[in-house]
Amino acid sequence: MKRVLSLAFLSFSLLLPACSGDSPTGGDGVSFSAELQPIFDANCGACHPPAGGLDLSPAGSYSSLVSVVSTGYAPSMRVQPGDPYISVLYGKASGESYSGAMPPVNLSALEIETILLWIQEGALDN
Ligand code: HEC
Repeated sequence: MKRVLSLAFLSFSLLLPACSGDSPTGGDGVSFSAELQPIFDANCGACHPPAGGLDLSPAGSYSSLVSVVSTGYAPSMRVQPGDPYISVLYGKASGESYSGAMPPVNLSALEIETILLWIQEGALDN
């Protein structure tokens, strides 16, 4: 079932570039500062920092995530640019993998998709 859901997300993401009018960024890709940081601010900031050694505050989130080896799931990266399915951030956010002591976060399908796309697009500091 979880695999089916991933495939559904994936096919949805392949369709997204076709509907640029619906994208908050006008089809130019997912913006870290305008689209991911607000997700972190609303859902993660109460615990990060300091939980898991991860800082998801506006000042620290990008440098704490991208190409940084995970504290709890080494040698996996928190974010492996281009590959959401091995990135701890995506696994935790979607609930699909890397489950541990962290309570589940109930992000919407759109929020999870936003994180997935941003990683697929190379995890840019944009
Ligand atoms: C209620 C507190 C809490 C909230 C809210 C929370 N986390 Fe966590 N998180 C933890 C704890 C505790 C850990 C360390 C244990 C573990 O890895 O499960 C953790 C670990 C992580 C890790 C792995 C860090 C590492 O290097 O091993 C990631 C990535 C992560 N959280 C992302 C998020 C994101 C994204 C959100 C918001 C959508 C979020 N967390 C919300 C408590 C929380």
